[in-house]
Amino acid sequence: MDSIIIQGGRPLSGTVEVSGAKNAALPLLAAGILADGPMIYHRIPHLRDITTMMTLLANQGADVSMDDKGRVRVDTSTSHLPEAPYELVKTMRASALVLGPLLARFGHARVSLPGGCAIGARPMDMHLKGLEAMGAEIRVEQGYVVAKTKGKLQGARIVFGTVTVTGTENLMMAAALADGETILENAAREPEVVNLADSLRQMGADIKGDGSGCICIRGVDRLNGAEVSVIADRIEAATYLAAGLITGGEVTVKHVDPGMLDAFLARVAEAGASVETGESWVRCSASERLQGVNIRTSPHPGFPTDLQAQFMALMCIASGSSVISETIFENRFMHVQELRRMGANIVLNGNAAVVDGIETLSGAPVMATDLRASASLVLAGLAATGETTISRVYHIDRGYERIEEKLRALGASIERITPTPELLRSPSLATS
Ligand code: EPZ
Repeated sequence: MDSIIIQGGRPLSGTVEVSGAKNAALPLLAAGILADGPMIYHRIPHLRDITTMMTLLANQGADVSMDDKGRVRVDTSTSHLPEAPYELVKTMRASALVLGPLLARFGHARVSLPGGCAIGARPMDMHLKGLEAMGAEIRVEQGYVVAKTKGKLQGARIVFGTVTVTGTENLMMAAALADGETILENAAREPEVVNLADSLRQMGADIKGDGSGCICIRGVDRLNGAEVSVIADRIEAATYLAAGLITGGEVTVKHVDPGMLDAFLARVAEAGASVETGESWVRCSASERLQGVNIRTSPHPGFPTDLQAQFMALMCIASGSSVISETIFENRFMHVQELRRMGANIVLNGNAAVVDGIETLSGAPVMATDLRASASLVLAGLAATGETTISRVYHIDRGYERIEEKLRALGASIERITPTPELLRSPSLATS
């Protein structure tokens, strides 16, 4: 398993081109199942999760290719196997996003339940209840969701008990080809949901209200292929802005709509950062040490749970204390024990972490546990004095395209090491 080695304490400055959003690209690729013709995708990021989704579609019989300009083409006219096997789903739970489209297209589907996840139980009950409300017959057999419909899915009014991003996306896709009107209430308002709705409309879907808590989908008979573009990855963008702030530098991220970062920018500004924005760029810097501020994660437009770990890294060396409350997932503080190894002063109390800022973190060997926890360890390593080695970086590769390259271009001393058999025999790496 690869590791990343960082020599910390160097201010990072410069400009980063933001990649396409993983969490927008995944549902967009799944939507290709609904299309009568080929889909062309612009700005699909090169990430492990994307490769997994493309493999999933190819396994179903789709023709999936990427040209030398990075455009992805998906033609599902040859798809014939409406399945998502455990071997793939266990590596990426967002594979569940194919369930709604497969059911709407084929009338039956067999999709593995994702199984456990580091950050929480992450059940799919709302996805399944919504499909049942639309007339699907759902059974769970040997770890698989086996779903079928007699004829087309039927429009329904669905009220989500809690906001679910992929639940909203799954049911919006299923409803696009259903008979009649579907209303999704307490729906997710994330920009990635709007990107999907925009793309479905380009394919011929009749969808209104996306971006608000109530989405109305009127089913149509068919959806055609379309050429669509993935929005910028707001989580990646904020992570690089945080890299500039935590090292006392100045980073600009470009090709991103600043409006998607409002909650994050408001909090870093409150902490004393200077924030400048343009039509498609954002710059952050801090002339002084940041002040501790409190955050509480919540569905968009609130503070994103996917930035909680990165913000905690910032607060570890802020002046004063901060309370970081995680309300979305029940186990999303696994970065805490690793940050403590670097000297951070953090006390956990239920779903709240109380961080008492210290002057500097110290480099140490640490272990990545999940995608966004890994990002917070990278940030901490960039700020720390001395060397930080982060093991199990495959977590990072799921959500950050070319992270070492982008950070090195900002002035970071960072390298990836792939253990050779000799290295593996050395005690320090043997456990990584
Ligand atoms: C999406 O996950 C994102 N993934 C996550 O990003 C993100 O953290 C999350 O939304 C919240 O913003 C993708 O878009 C691929 P949810 P999702 O359904 O849709 C509970 C990353 O780091 N719930 O909005 O799976 C659930 O357990 C990833 O890029 C149910 O109880 O999250 C959680 O507590 C991590 N039953 C809450 O709702 C359900 O049927 C919100 O989850 C569905 C969800």
